[in-house]
Amino acid sequence: MKTVRTVAELRAELAEPRRAGRRIGLVPTMGSFHEGHLSLIRQAREHCDTVVVSLFVNPTQFGEGEDLDAYPRDEQRDAALAEAERADLLFAPPVAEVYPDGFATTVRVHGLTDVLCGDPDRRGPEHFDGVTTVVSKLFNMVAPDVAYFGQKDAQQALVIRRLARDLDIPVRIEVCPTMREHDGLAMSSRNVHLSAEERHRAPALWRALDAADSLVSGGERDAVAVLAAARSELERARIEPDYLELRSATDLAPVEQVNGSTVLAVAARVGRTRLIDNKVLGGMP
Ligand code: PAJ
Repeated sequence: MKTVRTVAELRAELAEPRRAGRRIGLVPTMGSFHEGHLSLIRQAREHCDTVVVSLFVNPTQFGEGEDLDAYPRDEQRDAALAEAERADLLFAPPVAEVYPDGFATTVRVHGLTDVLCGDPDRRGPEHFDGVTTVVSKLFNMVAPDVAYFGQKDAQQALVIRRLARDLDIPVRIEVCPTMREHDGLAMSSRNVHLSAEERHRAPALWRALDAADSLVSGGERDAVAVLAAARSELERARIEPDYLELRSATDLAPVEQVNGSTVLAVAARVGRTRLIDNKVLGGMP
């Protein structure tokens, strides 16, 4: 596996595979790899000829007071892990390569970005502006045939699908299942910030989603009842959610009756660490 740091080097490396008609897969990441990231690289390896992993802790998607400086970074370890998964290229640009002096463009997806994590009282739509701007750039830099994202960040995946459609970017978006620890906690680079006591309480997010899912599998459709079941699991672990909401899994519209395509999304601070998770209810992943 080769590591490249500039767009020019990246394009030079991809010129030949592209000319030869190879299928190029992109896995965008901010590094600090865990099984979630590695599962995306594996999917790309299985279905593509040339696998590009990008590693860039994107400053524009962190709000003020968020953990940009504390974000865990270990490029050497990540490079070794990506190589072990047989990625072909690691694209790890410095900030100035992505945002040179005078950079002045923002890509915004409207609507989907001002609910849940994008609610102005939470991270705000500006968080997703950072994501969609950098992902647009990555799509233009790599020009992948397929790009891989995790269902863990369900809202992000929907926003990126919308972005690719709206801007006619010829990339197929694949969304891969959430990888979890043995006790259900969704893997996240931020889990390292949890104290032992917080780590013990954190799986309540998953138990809340699971409790709601069991109720739905048993025939319950009423949003109020489903949310109450989830909330009581959080309360048992003394977790007050930032949000706990049932929404359409396709357009994030609020729902009052759970149907085959409803997602239950939760965000909560456990100690100082903000965790998110979600589950599509009623038998879907
Ligand atoms: P990052 O948090 O590093 O995540 C990179 C990819 O891994 C995302 O698509 C995310 O959904 C996926 N992922 C994270 N945890 C996962 C888990 N437990 N199971 C499965 N997939 C998981 O998301 C970002 O970076 C950034 O916003 C990015 C898209 C790279 C833009 O900067």
